[in-house]
Amino acid sequence: MKIASHRSLLRVFPLLLLAGLAGHTASAQTWHAPNAQLASRELNARVEALLKKMTLDEKVGQLAQFSAGFSTGPGASNLKYDDLVAKGQVGSFLNVVGAAATNHYQHIAVEKTRLHIPLIFGLDVIHGHRTVFPAPLALAASWDPAVVETVARTSAVEARADGIAWVFSPMVDIARDPRWGRIVESAGEDPYLGSAMARAWVKGYQQDDLAKPDSVAVSVKHFAAYGAAIAGREYNAVDMSQTTLRQVYLEPYRAAVEAGAATLMSSFNSINGVPASANPFTLTQILRKEWGFDGFVVSDWGAVAELRNHAIGADDATVARKALEAGVDMDMEGNLYGTVIAAQVRAGTIPESVVDEAARRILRVKFALGLFENPYTAAGPAYEATPERRAVARKVADETFVLLKNDPVEGLGTLLPITAKVKKVALIGPLADDQRQLLGAWAGQGNPKDVITLRQTLAERLGDRLLFAKGCDLLGGENAQSIAEAVETAKKADVAILALGEPGNSMEGEASSRVHLGFTGAQEKLLEAVAATGKPVILVLLAARPLELKWAAEHVPAILEAWSPGIEAGPAVADVLFGDVNPSGKLPASFPRAVGQEPLYYAQLPTGRPAHEDRNRMPLQGENMVSRYVDEANSALFPFGWGLSYTRFSYGQPALSRNDVSVRELLDSGSTPVSTVGVDVRNTGSVAGTEVVQLYIRNTAASVEQPVRELKGFARVTLAPGEQKHVELPLGFNELNFYNVENRRTVEPTTCTIWVGGSSLAAEETSFRVVE
Ligand code: BGC
Repeated sequence: MKIASHRSLLRVFPLLLLAGLAGHTASAQTWHAPNAQLASRELNARVEALLKKMTLDEKVGQLAQFSAGFSTGPGASNLKYDDLVAKGQVGSFLNVVGAAATNHYQHIAVEKTRLHIPLIFGLDVIHGHRTVFPAPLALAASWDPAVVETVARTSAVEARADGIAWVFSPMVDIARDPRWGRIVESAGEDPYLGSAMARAWVKGYQQDDLAKPDSVAVSVKHFAAYGAAIAGREYNAVDMSQTTLRQVYLEPYRAAVEAGAATLMSSFNSINGVPASANPFTLTQILRKEWGFDGFVVSDWGAVAELRNHAIGADDATVARKALEAGVDMDMEGNLYGTVIAAQVRAGTIPESVVDEAARRILRVKFALGLFENPYTAAGPAYEATPERRAVARKVADETFVLLKNDPVEGLGTLLPITAKVKKVALIGPLADDQRQLLGAWAGQGNPKDVITLRQTLAERLGDRLLFAKGCDLLGGENAQSIAEAVETAKKADVAILALGEPGNSMEGEASSRVHLGFTGAQEKLLEAVAATGKPVILVLLAARPLELKWAAEHVPAILEAWSPGIEAGPAVADVLFGDVNPSGKLPASFPRAVGQEPLYYAQLPTGRPAHEDRNRMPLQGENMVSRYVDEANSALFPFGWGLSYTRFSYGQPALSRNDVSVRELLDSGSTPVSTVGVDVRNTGSVAGTEVVQLYIRNTAASVEQPVRELKGFARVTLAPGEQKHVELPLGFNELNFYNVENRRTVEPTTCTIWVGGSSLAAEETSFRVVE
């Protein structure tokens, strides 16, 4: 394939797509490559000059990645890596960390290979590298892209100092089913929130300039739709309409690519019968031709070899060919490309241009990162969780907590924040003092010893006013004796804080699907026993996934969702418990009443027989011909966007700067808003607080039915007591488009209902018309 024609093709496709909008001819818009560095002429000239010098085997070598350190998959290859590198048979390593270890291999690659091509070292840096922050789901609960950017930036600096120029992050998979353990790595259920977070991750890691010495390339994963595994069972098949695929599941990937993501990772699952790691439709048609992606795609761990289990080819040669031709450029820890591709090129089964293209994409990223100029990493001082780093981790965690419930109790008023009236505090539960579990899943190079637990913090803060009892283990059966001790401890205190959840380090993350979403072990029994004392209970949830909390929600007056809070777990939770910080997080995922509701999400499609609108109501006798369960309400226990504060906010009537717009104008406006939704928000309470103002839309007359509500805007606003601010949220093609039956983004004449408020239950309403 001629390079010139290939690149011009990429430039033309997205234009064709724009022109195809809704059958209208959109006015000519200049299309820009999503990552200007990867598209630059100068960089590509260097790539082409190098490619010309490379033998087939050297090019194939670039496509191979091995795990040469610890293992993050089912068994690592364990080969003679020094020799492989020297022979030019390795393009990248994962799980090799630190200046010394990475430099060791880099010296071989740069000094001993014929063309001196540097390796690129990749690693799972998921919520921090050495400084561990709250889990990604928690970060999404901040609804603050700046928080995510801070985490990504800090991680990038630390990772790069450890020789890592490439992170396997962000995970942008939409997760609508908390049975799936990887919901912890996601931004939750919503494509709009997920896209905002995806952009922030990319910006924080890559800084709009891969060449900076402290930038790292991202790998947006897992492409695609991995989070929609049937029944929430890890690695399971995905089967969904193309409309849902594009409008919901692909949106955060598109946002990440548009933000300049340098690489993507192809996922383990199949999509509508075609494995995602050999899927020309997602990897080439959508990613390359429609989105104009110039970076490279790495497979997930062994995903190319696993294509044999997907039974789409009888032998290694066939499945490897299918993956490569579909658009998987690098084979992670599969060793298939390295062993079966070159022979097929020589036999004429695979055109050499396919190998050229994959190598070209990988080299582009290596050049853009400056690895040819600066392949080595200077040895630095040993990592320390310094006060500065701790301060950042604490500030980040402070923003992620969600106050789910805060009822008044006799004699104390609202239970949280804890006031001076409370003399003795009983801290109870297996997560009150467990550093490893608090660090959470995929904690990278984090050290459990860096975690400050809630017990440590409260002991320092309260001295002998603190009583402690573990109560039970995270797993295993009930121990009557230790529950009895916890009950006695609670009886001696004014309030009991229960730190409960699930084992974040071992039961969240990959391969951690659950069918039961309650507390693990005997924790529910412990909670019930302590609550039975009549002492006011504050439940601190330490689980980075929505759990089933029905009993707790009915019987416990105060519930704080603290997720998986990272190294500053104790201090940050205490900030909120004592009111030094007013909680401002909002749920990025719906919490179910019962597991049987899953997948449960607010942006449901309508039905012809909707259930009664009273969300909390159980079905009435005889009300049996509507879309509902006979034994439970339809709604979430705690809905998407939910989160209380120590103050109260009131909303005025939303008003639009313009109430209608024509289809034509919307199509021509591109991403420029045509109207704004304005609303006054007032702090009517007595303390300062931050509210996340949320905008929801319903398109009431589209040719393809649209969800009953969709998030289309949000803003964090901080208000002093009594203060009022006017918040404006943009409305335009980006907010109003949807995919029509031809799978094109479009707008049609319609009326949209618009709500603004503090959760997905927002009630303040107006409407907007799109006219012919
Ligand atoms: C996971 C990926 C991860 C990779 C490398 C896989 O098992 O699915 O998310 O990046 O391993 O560690």
